[in-house]
Amino acid sequence: MIIREEEPKDYDAVYSLVKTAFESAEHSDGNEHKLVSALRHSKSFIPELSIVAEIDGIITGYILFTRVKSDCGNALALAPLAVLPAYQRQGIGKALINYGNKKAAEMGFDYSIVLGNPAVYSGCGFVNAGIYGIKPPFDVPEGCFMAVALKKNAIPLNSMIEYAKEFFEI
Ligand SMILES: CC(C)(COP(=O)(O)OP(=O)(O)OC[C@H]1O[C@@H](n2cnc3c(N)ncnc32)[C@H](O)[C@@H]1OP(=O)(O)O)[C@@H](O)C(=O)NCCC(=O)NCCS
Repeated sequence: MIIREEEPKDYDAVYSLVKTAFESAEHSDGNEHKLVSALRHSKSFIPELSIVAEIDGIITGYILFTRVKSDCGNALALAPLAVLPAYQRQGIGKALINYGNKKAAEMGFDYSIVLGNPAVYSGCGFVNAGIYGIKPPFDVPEGCFMAVALKKNAIPLNSMIEYAKEFFEI
């Protein structure tokens, strides 16, 4: 498996991968593939943190981290994460999360933040975001709003975060 930055030649494969993966997802608004296309044009987009997993030339997984606004600190939203159904439960999602978090740490970010299933993210170090004083800008299910500190000395954000506007426009 190769994990690498997404390139323009991957856009079509990523679009159908994200669409297909979320068709069978527990939680989906059915628009995650369109959100990715919109976020690529956002000020919050960071090309190095738009990442694919490739196996034998097939794009099997995708993860995106976009900048969020907060009163202090330097944080990212992890969304979406998707793996082709035929390749799920083989460690691809976890490999993408860990690769992305490592890259984000190297780039100087303090936190990755995710709204998702704790069973997927806790094995990658995500804990309740409230521990770092990170507050969601909307109601979230108990235990599903999580964050991981990317630096040992990351100061608590103690702030509500603001997602890229594209998250609310699709
Ligand atoms: C969620 C998803 C990305 C996981 O990808 P994956 O490659 O199957 O995940 P991995 O095999 O790397 O597993 C990573 C962890 O998630 C857990 N996990 C994977 N799928 C899970 C599921 N459906 N329910 C509960 N836990 C799950 C694994 O047990 C593993 O836990 P561990 O770190 O404690 O060992 C994939 O199932 C998917 O694309 N789902 C549809 C899209 C979606 O829902 N994305 C958002 C997730 S919040």
